[in-house]
Amino acid sequence: MKTINLFFLMLLILAFACTKAPRQVPVMDASTFGGQVDGKKVELFTLRNAKGMTVQITNYGGRVVDLWVPDKNGNFSDVVLGYPTLNGYLNSHEIYFGTLIGRYGNRIGKGQFILNDSVYKLAVNNGPNHLHGGIKGFNNVVWDAVRSDDNTLLLSYLSPDGEEGYPGNLQVNVTYELTDNNELKIDYKATTDKPTPVNLTHHSYFNLKGAGEGDILDHVMQIYGSYYTPVDSGLIPTGEIASVEGTVFDFRTPTAIGARIGDDNQQLKYGLGYDHNWVLDSNGDSLHKAAKVVEPVSGRIMEVYTNEPGIQFYTGNFLAGKDTGKNGKVYPYRGALCLETQHFPDSPNKPAFPSAILDPEEEYHSICIYKFSAE
Ligand code: GLA
Repeated sequence: MKTINLFFLMLLILAFACTKAPRQVPVMDASTFGGQVDGKKVELFTLRNAKGMTVQITNYGGRVVDLWVPDKNGNFSDVVLGYPTLNGYLNSHEIYFGTLIGRYGNRIGKGQFILNDSVYKLAVNNGPNHLHGGIKGFNNVVWDAVRSDDNTLLLSYLSPDGEEGYPGNLQVNVTYELTDNNELKIDYKATTDKPTPVNLTHHSYFNLKGAGEGDILDHVMQIYGSYYTPVDSGLIPTGEIASVEGTVFDFRTPTAIGARIGDDNQQLKYGLGYDHNWVLDSNGDSLHKAAKVVEPVSGRIMEVYTNEPGIQFYTGNFLAGKDTGKNGKVYPYRGALCLETQHFPDSPNKPAFPSAILDPEEEYHSICIYKFSAE
């Protein structure tokens, strides 16, 4: 009897040892991350899924601080640029690492628009134009945060009437969820008490080799969009919806980012590389795949899904090796890429673009999913 019990006990121990427990990744210490901004406490929250994928998010700007994703051999790397402390973010040259962006993602020409016969003048922070919500965009505010379970963080912010020049009190609720399918899902909702433009997005800088591991020119990109919106020298759309056919903007078949980025092309010159809005074939009707990125050596794959009509593909052209981030790694020129789901830039001044105006009786609802896998 005793021998049988011992046999079963050993079997049990063996079975337990063989179950693949999700690998723990070396996350940052939340107790040394934070501080205060505008008298509000800045914190770091850790979300984990059943497969060991881990993301850390701060309520300062709703930033994704690190994101640990497995490669084809199950080895985890942190695939977003960022800092180990709040101070790092406060002193950075690049101010949008990992942030939420609002009230309006990308540029509004000359920082003004007309809505219902009133002229609204916005904060101007990018030459003569308004970029990513202005001088103090949603990337610079401390959000109220509630961690509802191991996988989910709820962030909310009430943007007051007149903030950065925008009309209406805008209540914004953003949910970050890390699903067991290795998806980082961002769900944005907003309501207003006056008509106002709203275009919320997310600005992680991804490098699927790992943050600080060289540039992203070898990543293979696919964008599910047959048109894009050409820009002028200030990166304001001209209003044209141009076909990608036969141009360096055709990513309908997977193409290395670096393959054509140096071509003699006026649009690439204006952007210093890719920094353009693609018109998605899905038209923003429902949740669709917008883009797919493959890093051939690690085998990491990132797919982006959204219900938005557009996506900004930006190749880190303003990074210049000036920022030293996590683990002392320097972030070089084109050391990361951004895929920002969105309504088109400057829509408030472009009546032919899908409208980005939210009315008081409506609810804004935008979804962006970054889904990771490896092969
Ligand atoms: C966006 C813009 C770029 C640049 C970056 C932030 O992606 O389109 O031009 O401003 O943000 O540096």
